[in-house]
Amino acid sequence: MVQTNKKIRKAILPVGGLGTRFLPATKVIPKELLPVLDKPLVQYAIDEAIEAGIEEFIFVTGRGKSAIEDYFDHSIELEKNLMDQNKDDILKYIQDMILKPGSVSFVRQQVPAGLGHAVWCAKNFVSNETVAVLLADDLIVARPSCMKQMIENWDGGNMVATMDVPYQDTSSYGVIKPGKTNGKKIEVKHIIEKPNPENAPSNIAVVGRYILEPSVFDDLSLQKKGTNGEIQLTDSLSSQIGKVPFFGYNFDGKRYDCGNKLGFIKANSFFALNDPLIGKEYKKWLKENI
Ligand code: UTP
Repeated sequence: MVQTNKKIRKAILPVGGLGTRFLPATKVIPKELLPVLDKPLVQYAIDEAIEAGIEEFIFVTGRGKSAIEDYFDHSIELEKNLMDQNKDDILKYIQDMILKPGSVSFVRQQVPAGLGHAVWCAKNFVSNETVAVLLADDLIVARPSCMKQMIENWDGGNMVATMDVPYQDTSSYGVIKPGKTNGKKIEVKHIIEKPNPENAPSNIAVVGRYILEPSVFDDLSLQKKGTNGEIQLTDSLSSQIGKVPFFGYNFDGKRYDCGNKLGFIKANSFFALNDPLIGKEYKKWLKENI
């Protein structure tokens, strides 16, 4: 059943992927903890979710990802040291980032079988509510945040964040076939994972923000393998077309694909250039080194 009350309380953060594009760093550091300037990627996603009104966070982790649990917990020794050194500001900063007790759950995806599989692993925690999904490696700089824009414009049904990409890049994304457009909301007639440019129904690509109705989980439960032999979220979204409304939301903002090196470096550069402490000097250094 489609929920039409505007409140979306829960978010899934799939962080179970292998992050092979960042090996060897990701052999021991989860990709989602790689810092953009001084904050880990996953913190940006959490900040975005909180701004959107999300109250419960479900992380789908995997082997080698336990540092993510530690990151969201108290570090007693560090906090004591900061207190002893009267570093009150940074102490408050890191304490404020700890999520409220009872608002965080961790579920383990034993095998990284794909994004659809990761999302399905959170099924029992979602308990039949409409849920947001945020991929931390898509860092989106937006005001208001991308997820907030989506929730404010959501009125039941499935929704994905969308942006135009060059046709030659469609094979890196889920791509939609658009129907009627109403402002930034685009009806989705069809969605396909990683099409070659010649098969792409448009150049409107899906980026890592989703609002999912509970019925998506019924299809994910079938565990059907799709592109690259993975269980794809795109395929389960596709199965819902005609059963529940489905929209793309062409958000205002800039998305950095921090799942690859170039996007990650661009994001770091953006935050460095805008940093009050190092921005000026970094800009000077960039000019000298280009
Ligand atoms: P990616 O498609 O970027 O895959 O996942 P990856 O494994 O993390 O990275 P590469 O391609 O090997 O470099 C997008 C998001 O979905 C999560 C990832 O953790 C990332 O946040 N994911 C992906 C899972 O949680 N489980 C999976 O099985 C696959």
